[in-house]
Amino acid sequence: MTNLAIIVIGASSEIAQAFVKAQTEQSPDVNVISVSRQTKTAQQANNLHFQCDYSKAQIRQVASRILELGLTVKSVTIFNGLLHDEFDKFPEKKLEEIDLEYSMALFNINTMIPMLWLQALLPAIKGKQPCIVTALSARVGSISDNQMGGWYSYRSSKSALNMMFKTAAVELARRAKNIKLILFHPGTTDTPLSKPFQANVPDEKLFTPEFVAHQLSGIIANSHPDGTVSYVDWQNKLIEW
Ligand SMILES: NC(=O)c1ccc[n+]([C@@H]2O[C@H](COP(=O)([O-])OP(=O)(O)OC[C@H]3O[C@@H](n4cnc5c(N)ncnc54)[C@H](OP(=O)(O)O)[C@@H]3O)[C@@H](O)[C@H]2O)c1
Repeated sequence: MTNLAIIVIGASSEIAQAFVKAQTEQSPDVNVISVSRQTKTAQQANNLHFQCDYSKAQIRQVASRILELGLTVKSVTIFNGLLHDEFDKFPEKKLEEIDLEYSMALFNINTMIPMLWLQALLPAIKGKQPCIVTALSARVGSISDNQMGGWYSYRSSKSALNMMFKTAAVELARRAKNIKLILFHPGTTDTPLSKPFQANVPDEKLFTPEFVAHQLSGIIANSHPDGTVSYVDWQNKLIEW
């Protein structure tokens, strides 16, 4: 094993699991550090795995244990995202459906959890070696692209994530020039998150987690710190804010 590591947060995500597989095939010697609410899965058998409830205290605790490992972190990829939840709350179709509890849960998971990780991991990733930090965003978070309406909370929580990353990029360009930020839209991908919304998606537009993970791996491998954030889709095409 080398001294290099990648960090995968929200590792139970189906895209994340395919991503870990793609990354370990690409660089078998890299240390994979995975974080999830879940315990280790079969795919994570060889990883260094941290179970975490994403409370502020546990995020800090896991981040300081990662720092103590003294590894050089090449990339951090944050997969956490919620669209519909275990209480059967679904994306809003009209104003009357806006619900504070659902909306707050989405802002917490989709916007704040990625930012708390960026905050907590800064000491472990700031340095001389390039580190690519990616959060899974979504095209529906683009304000200029919003022609269809609906999905108030999911859209806005991803737009807020985009603004948080844009703001962090301005700061990191001064404080930690080795860090490159990416906001990645995977396209509609066949995972539990999109399951209830796949009916009208043509087969060729419904991607497998393996395809998306391969695309994401390529984008990360070809990215370099440049003091900006890139908001891109699976083809590495820029998305308008
Ligand atoms: N699938 C799509 O079509 C699609 C399209 C656009 C964007 N995305 C984005 O892609 C990312 C990965 O999603 P996926 O499609 O792979 O979905 P998934 O398999 O359902 O994965 C869900 C992810 O969200 C995390 N999560 C779920 N509930 C959570 C909670 N209560 N608190 C904290 N974290 C929670 C999970 O983390 P744990 O490992 O901790 O369980 C996991 O990382 C998401 O950010 C999603 O918004 C997906």
